[in-house]
Amino acid sequence: MKPIQFRANITGTGKYLPEKVLSNQDIEKLVDTSDEWIQTRTGIRERRIVKNGQATAEMSTNAIIQLLEKRDISAEEIDAIIVATITPDMMFPSTAAIIQSNIKAKNAWGYDLSSACSGFLFGMQSGAALISSGQCKKVIVVGADTMSSILNFEDRNTCILFGDGAGAVLLEPSEEYGVIDSELRVDGSGGEYLKMDAGGSRLPASHHTVDNKQHFVYQDGKSVFKHAVKGMADISYQVASRNNLMGSDIDLFIPHQANKRIIDAAAKKLGLSDSQVMINIDRFANTTAATLPICLAEADEENMLSLGDNVILSAFGAGFSWGAMYIKWGLPAYA
Ligand code: UT7
Repeated sequence: MKPIQFRANITGTGKYLPEKVLSNQDIEKLVDTSDEWIQTRTGIRERRIVKNGQATAEMSTNAIIQLLEKRDISAEEIDAIIVATITPDMMFPSTAAIIQSNIKAKNAWGYDLSSACSGFLFGMQSGAALISSGQCKKVIVVGADTMSSILNFEDRNTCILFGDGAGAVLLEPSEEYGVIDSELRVDGSGGEYLKMDAGGSRLPASHHTVDNKQHFVYQDGKSVFKHAVKGMADISYQVASRNNLMGSDIDLFIPHQANKRIIDAAAKKLGLSDSQVMINIDRFANTTAATLPICLAEADEENMLSLGDNVILSAFGAGFSWGAMYIKWGLPAYA
């Protein structure tokens, strides 16, 4: 008899967005920009920002608690917690360990994973491997970032683009639903275009690095834009077409939310109409690793998905790193 190959099915979602809204009008008071420029060039209207003292583990904990409550399961049932983030609470211990303690998941192990905007996709791939190998029965994959902690609010090239937030999904085995296919890539030659220079082992924090503002996000927007437009559109098309999904076969395309123009280019290549594309960049901006799980949680909450729907996730970010994943949705729409 052929052994059953289990898929990693998303059986729960949760999200947390800080209460504080930072609108484009608020940012107009900080740097030389305008609501009109930001909206037309990016599609962003506002973003959420943490209050003082709030950080990545706390946002992630809130997202997971929401997920566990929705599913009515105990944290003790969780086998592993994978946290995708570039803004961990601290260099070590891992944010996964802090979250494990917060939620009292006493039977879970876990770790952090750093791949910027693609981090959640990479975390999904790792979580799916733990499920389909039979090593774990319940894995939580979190994407969370406190981007406001590494933004220079005097730099109009970057401070308008990002927001804070966290999202989480629960993966469990299924014979029918879940992750069907994926394609993931890294090209480190793109590293110079989007980075934070200091604070690691090569350039530890010093008066010099602080004075030179090297603990902030640096981005060459034009170069990243050029690679992102092609990278996200091509890889989404590749995963969709090799699974015979085109146009109306795709129920929901969930792209990373860095720029509405990048999303539009990918959607066009897939032959999608607006109603097939998840958009929340207008309200939350680019929340880096948190973007995809926040989108998934919103789509779930708002009954945008039904059992068996074809979903394509896609991301592009620092590294460069990028990828796409095909998921057969395995949660029924709520009544
Ligand atoms: O999540 C990780 C992946 N990141 C991305 O995918 C982001 C990719 N990049 C982008 O989304 C876009 O490149 C940006 C939104 C960052 C910039 O848009 P753009 O259309 O590429 O603008 P640009 O950089 O070519 O700048 C055009 C002009 C420049 O002025 P000059 O040189 O033409 O006089 C900028 O100085 O706009 C100026 N500018 C601004 N003006 C008002 C740049 N930022 C601003 C701003 N407000 N915030």
